[in-house]
Amino acid sequence: MDSLSSKKIYIETYGCQMNFSDSEIVASVLTEHGYLITRAIQSADIILLNTCSIRDHAEQRVKKRLQQIRVFKKKKPDLTIGLLGCMADRIKNVLLEEEHLLDIIAGPDAYRDLPRLLDQVESGQRGVNTLLSLEETYADITPVRLGSNGVSAYISIMRGCENYCSYCVVPFTRGRERSRDARSIIRESQELVGQGFREVTLLGQNVNSYRSNEGNDKINFARLLDRIASINPLLRIRFATSHPKDISDELLETIAIHPTICRALHLPVQSGSNRVLSRMNRKYTREEYLERVETIRNVIPGCAISTDIISGFCDETEEDHQETLSLMAQVKFDYAFMFNYSERPMTPAAKTLKDNVPREVKERRLTEVIGLQQKLSFESNKQDLGRVFEVLIEGNSKRSADHFMGRNSQNKVVVFPKTTAGPGEYVQVKVFSFTSATLLGETVQ
Ligand code: 5AD
Ligand code: SF4
Repeated sequence: MDSLSSKKIYIETYGCQMNFSDSEIVASVLTEHGYLITRAIQSADIILLNTCSIRDHAEQRVKKRLQQIRVFKKKKPDLTIGLLGCMADRIKNVLLEEEHLLDIIAGPDAYRDLPRLLDQVESGQRGVNTLLSLEETYADITPVRLGSNGVSAYISIMRGCENYCSYCVVPFTRGRERSRDARSIIRESQELVGQGFREVTLLGQNVNSYRSNEGNDKINFARLLDRIASINPLLRIRFATSHPKDISDELLETIAIHPTICRALHLPVQSGSNRVLSRMNRKYTREEYLERVETIRNVIPGCAISTDIISGFCDETEEDHQETLSLMAQVKFDYAFMFNYSERPMTPAAKTLKDNVPREVKERRLTEVIGLQQKLSFESNKQDLGRVFEVLIEGNSKRSADHFMGRNSQNKVVVFPKTTAGPGEYVQVKVFSFTSATLLGETVQ
């Protein structure tokens, strides 16, 4: 054991599911080296922020948090502060003021190096590693499940992205696309089942372009899903995120034949206008997207479809915006994440296009997009009234100790009065009411 070994680490995570999964890898690397993970920031010797750069808003939140942490550090000067993840390489541009506060800066591919970086800090230096890797997938690292409910877990299956959507910083913060080998993913899934987990979410920036080799055998995402679905009939499988251009018929058919692969696809459309899609370098048209949706509905009846939408991208006209609204109404998304465009440094859009939609216009359009989605989500929930769903119980409802919460295959949260079944078990729940984000029901035989 080294001299730091009993130090307590507090990890705070910003951004996407992928980042939460990364924090679990960080926790694993550090606990292997004798560090302890604490959930109480007050008792921490080391605070690590795992950051996100996807939108300006995410970076602003981290900046604010660092100001609070500066106050902490005044009271406790021995505190070690580290900034991990997507903002690491951008630190010079965005965090000049806070820079001297940071003892450690580590990019998304540098987590194995954290023990060495912490040793450097111990000897009075700063620990910095923002190198991106062509190979790192952390395949052999068993994540420490942080904040886990013991029922559902994330499994990272690939890293990086090479789609180069013109607005997106991910190819620059997370580097080249690489897939983790299938055997290590299957082993991790089996171990999770053995520990009582009943749901895995396979994560990658674009899981549909997953590729690995087993000898001469090529494993694509459909085959990987098929393998995982064969592990145990009690294990549910989710995945995110899918790129519309890569969602193949083979994949849809694989989902269709396995009831344990959840009936919920997250298929970011970003815009309903072909002009905007082309400037975004999305590599599909509105018509192609609608064709995929139709095929999904035919091949996987009852499949929920959610999406991401960006309002106010460069040169977006009122007509483009109307096309987004009309596409939303046509697809009837069950759920959507909706954002104003924010220009990110280094991206093709920042280099070649003008962020020229005025802020008020962006905001008004986003409000319209959100307003429409609220109606669509309401309609989607209303259609569930009277239906019976299989629900995997995750734990107590946040609002009431007399109720459990779980999810149906479509990824909707379902709340119902407790029965003899418990977390990790499946129950049939009939829906009798709903709020904007939750279906309410009761168990039936
Ligand atoms: N501005 C606004 N939203 C963005 N996203 C990605 N980059 C940007 C940006 N520069 C959104 C996209 C993506 C989701 C993860 O974040 O909708 O699908
Ligand atoms: Fe944010 Fe993208 Fe990094 Fe995830 S990969 S943390 S969304 S910048």
